[in-house]
Amino acid sequence: MKVKKAVIPAAGFGTRFLPATKAVPKEMLPIIDKPTIQYIAEEAVNAGIEELLIIVSRGKDAIINHFDKAFEIETILERDGKEEMLNAVREVSDKLNVCFVRQQEQKGLGHAVLCAKTFVENEPFAVMLGDDVVVSEKPCIGQLMEQHDKYGASVLGVQKVGMEHVSKYGIVDCEHVEGRMYKLKGMVEKPKMEDAPSDVAVLGRYVITPGIFECLERTPKGAGGEIQLTDALVLLSEKEDIYAYDFEGKRYDIGNKQGFLQATVDFALSRPDLKDDFAKYLKGILNKI
Ligand code: UTP
Repeated sequence: MKVKKAVIPAAGFGTRFLPATKAVPKEMLPIIDKPTIQYIAEEAVNAGIEELLIIVSRGKDAIINHFDKAFEIETILERDGKEEMLNAVREVSDKLNVCFVRQQEQKGLGHAVLCAKTFVENEPFAVMLGDDVVVSEKPCIGQLMEQHDKYGASVLGVQKVGMEHVSKYGIVDCEHVEGRMYKLKGMVEKPKMEDAPSDVAVLGRYVITPGIFECLERTPKGAGGEIQLTDALVLLSEKEDIYAYDFEGKRYDIGNKQGFLQATVDFALSRPDLKDDFAKYLKGILNKI
């Protein structure tokens, strides 16, 4: 069955970006002039996703407003013939049916995904985390959807992160199938370096079969006292094959400050309107360091 629906869990507290995230959702912090969540929504559109559910929480209304029609701004831009800006404002909301659910209590990523049960119905669906922005020729989630079409199973987007970083991620134990495709043998959330089965991490992109909901419902609290999606996927793997796909593309961990800065600099250097002046500026300050 083709994947048409995607879920973006965006209900977390965003503590790593305090005080910015005290009043502004982490997902609304911009990389240059676009909120990070819009990059994720655009990836979904480019992969052919038709319906998007964003899981929000108290204090995240700015996300809902962002995907709404901005009637006053659009009228002014239309009146002034500012076509390019108008397109930028309308970019995603015109192409995607976006809806929202509130997660009442932040009980973890697994619990946030469980909030999507009614929206998903009995279909395979994509989960996309806002902390990971991927720049690739083919949209990252589209690569996983293609593999789902071929194997008819859940597919997790993975890449190597280096042993020193394993304690920040869900880490997989898997065996090679073909090309960039692996079959999952096991998975552990945020392991210590000495307990990690590999340095291959799940990086914020999943295509999951609807069997996950029954597993989430019986997943106890795990790492950090939260209901972990990783633990539910382990339960699902006892009933169904799960695959891991080493996706192509450069991934930025914008959930931490270093990654956010790197994305900002790289994105600016790839923008025709900013590149030349910004590169000149960077060269100037590099000479002084
Ligand atoms: P994180 O663990 O990165 O948490 O969640 P966070 O709150 O976003 O950020 P920090 O670590 O406090 O800075 C991973 C993803 O799961 C979502 C988050 O919004 C993020 O996209 N999430 C997490 C929820 O939607 N609900 C939760 O209860 C927990």
